[in-house]
Amino acid sequence: MIDVPVKLGARSYRILVGAGLLSQAGPEISRLGVGRRLALLTDPAIQSLYGEIVAQSLAGAGFDVTTVLLPEGERAKTLEVAASTWDRLLEAGLDRGSAVIALGGGAVGDLAGFVAATYMRGMHFVQLPTTLLAQVDASIGGKTAIDHPRAKNLIGAFHQPRLVLADTGALQSLPEREYRSGLAEVIKHGIVLDAGYFDEVERNAAALAKREPEILERIVAGSCRLKASVIERDEQEAELRHVLNYGHTIGHAIESVTGYARFAHGEAVSLGMAAEAGVAERLGLAAAGTRARQVRLLETMGLPVREVGEAPARVVEAMARDKKAKEGRVPFVLAPEIGRFRIVFDVPTPVILEALAELG
Ligand SMILES: NC(=O)c1ccc[n+]([C@@H]2O[C@H](COP(=O)([O-])OP(=O)(O)OC[C@H]3O[C@@H](n4cnc5c(N)ncnc54)[C@H](O)[C@@H]3O)[C@@H](O)[C@H]2O)c1
Ligand SMILES: [Zn+2]
Repeated sequence: MIDVPVKLGARSYRILVGAGLLSQAGPEISRLGVGRRLALLTDPAIQSLYGEIVAQSLAGAGFDVTTVLLPEGERAKTLEVAASTWDRLLEAGLDRGSAVIALGGGAVGDLAGFVAATYMRGMHFVQLPTTLLAQVDASIGGKTAIDHPRAKNLIGAFHQPRLVLADTGALQSLPEREYRSGLAEVIKHGIVLDAGYFDEVERNAAALAKREPEILERIVAGSCRLKASVIERDEQEAELRHVLNYGHTIGHAIESVTGYARFAHGEAVSLGMAAEAGVAERLGLAAAGTRARQVRLLETMGLPVREVGEAPARVVEAMARDKKAKEGRVPFVLAPEIGRFRIVFDVPTPVILEALAELG
């Protein structure tokens, strides 16, 4: 097991990474000094895989658990689901000293975090992420949200968890596409934050593709450490935290023009990184070859780097509608070399169009 601290003063917490941690949920949550009553939020698929292990561990530690089943995936992130969950928490007699436990992917985590942030003005929250994306990204940092018909993640709050238990053993049951999609965020962390980590992913690509337990634990912990270091310096996304949006400026636009149907999130981010790496080279910001190395690793991990299947102009249009565009100025995170980043505004549109055209 690897222990990654997140140092945020009074809101500090630990991320524990390792195989088999779900069975330790009871004793680990006991140490937090939360009330006896817990709400375990999960979806039916995850419940049938891991619900029993977690429930037994919690009951064994003396907790009184109310399980709330959420709809699968993005359908959990609605006001209706939040409202019915508040009702369930009230019925079960949970109060501010109680804790909400999220067992699942980023969707369960986002909804559960939103409920924990709002119920009685905020209660304890614990993340038990079960997807790669949730373990290396969504469960860390305290961003919680539900969707609005006009845009994803529009309604939410910052609410840090008290503890994150990332059981890397749970990644063995992830569908292949879901797993590879999570690897896009892993590679992103290396590209903009840490060349040594990028090297490690490159060197262990084959073992990682086979989900070998030891490498999984190291890589997940490495990503958690990198994301934690960003959160520690910029908890509420003032500026530095934008670095985590590498590949996402164009990636989100690709998801939007393809109706969130053609590409998994990580696939769109992979295409976004391939395009943004092209932008950096065209601006003369990145040394030649920086893009090629990124693209090579993404391809090795089975992620798409070409053929968006949409006109570049449509993608650029969607970019301008992004909620992160400040008064029409779209911030780009670019990588001058592997392991470093720069935030650049006002990238000329023709440069973006060319970089997208290069993907085909
Ligand atoms: N809060 C943040 O900082 C943040 C960051 C990134 C993404 N997100 C959010 O995360 C969500 C996406 O999360 P996701 O990619 O984890 O997908 P997801 O939560 O939608 O889960 C995808 C599917 O995987 C299944 N599943 C989960 N764990 C499994 C396992 N171990 N084995 C087999 N199946 C499993 C689930 O039942 C679900 O059907 C989006 O809503 C996104 O907005 C939030
Ligand atoms: Zn992402």
